[in-house]
Amino acid sequence: MAVRFSIRAETVMNSTAVVSVILPSRIDPLICRIVAMIEVPPTGHESVMLGEVLAYLNPQPGQIMMDCTVGRGGHSLALAQRLGQGGTLIGLDVDPRNLEYAQARLRGLACNVRLFHANFAEIADVLAEAKVGRVDGILADLGLSTNQFLDPQYGLSFSSDGPLDMRLDPRLCRTAAEVVNTLREEDLADLFFELAQERYSRRIARKIVEARRICPITTTGRLAELVRSAIPPRGGAPEKIDPATRTFLALRMHVNQEMEQLGTFLQAVGGLLAVGGSQAVISFQSMEDRLVKQAFRAAEQAGGFKILTKKPLVPGDAELQRNPRSRSAKMRVIRRVA
Ligand SMILES: C[S@@+](CC[C@H](N)C(=O)[O-])C[C@H]1O[C@@H](n2cnc3c(N)ncnc32)[C@H](O)[C@@H]1O
Repeated sequence: MAVRFSIRAETVMNSTAVVSVILPSRIDPLICRIVAMIEVPPTGHESVMLGEVLAYLNPQPGQIMMDCTVGRGGHSLALAQRLGQGGTLIGLDVDPRNLEYAQARLRGLACNVRLFHANFAEIADVLAEAKVGRVDGILADLGLSTNQFLDPQYGLSFSSDGPLDMRLDPRLCRTAAEVVNTLREEDLADLFFELAQERYSRRIARKIVEARRICPITTTGRLAELVRSAIPPRGGAPEKIDPATRTFLALRMHVNQEMEQLGTFLQAVGGLLAVGGSQAVISFQSMEDRLVKQAFRAAEQAGGFKILTKKPLVPGDAELQRNPRSRSAKMRVIRRVA
């Protein structure tokens, strides 16, 4: 008998993530929850489309490259190793915990490494502070690193219990808990629908408002259970993704103002590239990819830029097998030609 099952990550311990395998309930309940192990690299995140990034940004000795989402430092390290003495890598990230990790990883390289705790929407200010006019390559690898998703302290995961925070940047003042406990029911529903196309947005918002009247919602575990209980069970095959996925995605995007920050970044970035320099953006959601596509088209139409990827690049089979988390990645690249 063929058995369909879904897997969700629970916690990360050293280089191993503990995951539950949820089997359909018609199977003996005693074996409904099996714990399995999957590998997470010791750095906490495997860089996506690394070969493609190097091929398109083509870092050369002495150049200035910018990694706008340093994360665990994988892309930064590969770029920096090619810049050599006289070259500079400028990196930024909103998450000081990732930045600290990357700083240690990037120590001792021949090139000059300068890391900033900043949002990529602030790219122009960062370059002004670094006293750099134009750069030869710019990378943005959007979204979350695996360690951020798996560490319950970030409050991003519906699979493990933690504070309902979701802020990547501790400078932000509003946590996800504040959003779910204060927004009006209609506004919560709109948020879930507009940012994540959640078809049960109204039911979920109603459930949240009813629950918070009794007691504020402060943990990821309680929110995930509320969302799951608001969604009617599907007949037939089990859901491929956890029913809480879209609600958590919408809240994370709202708390971190992801679309707004990406829009500001894409507007600012063209003028900061040297002639011959390229910008690569890796996105993981259709809304982000659409924004990148539109911004690149507008830049090409305005003149001075050439899109190098008419269709977005996607990971090859070998990468998909090695790192299934890369499956939704899309990379677009534009070059400044004049
Ligand atoms: C997918 S990870 C990057 C992984 C990295 N390329 C590597 O190889 O390790 C995305 C990173 O971008 C950061 N980030 C998300 N939004 C950001 C923003 N608006 N500005 C700067 N960094 C951001 C996250 O904190 C996270 O560390």
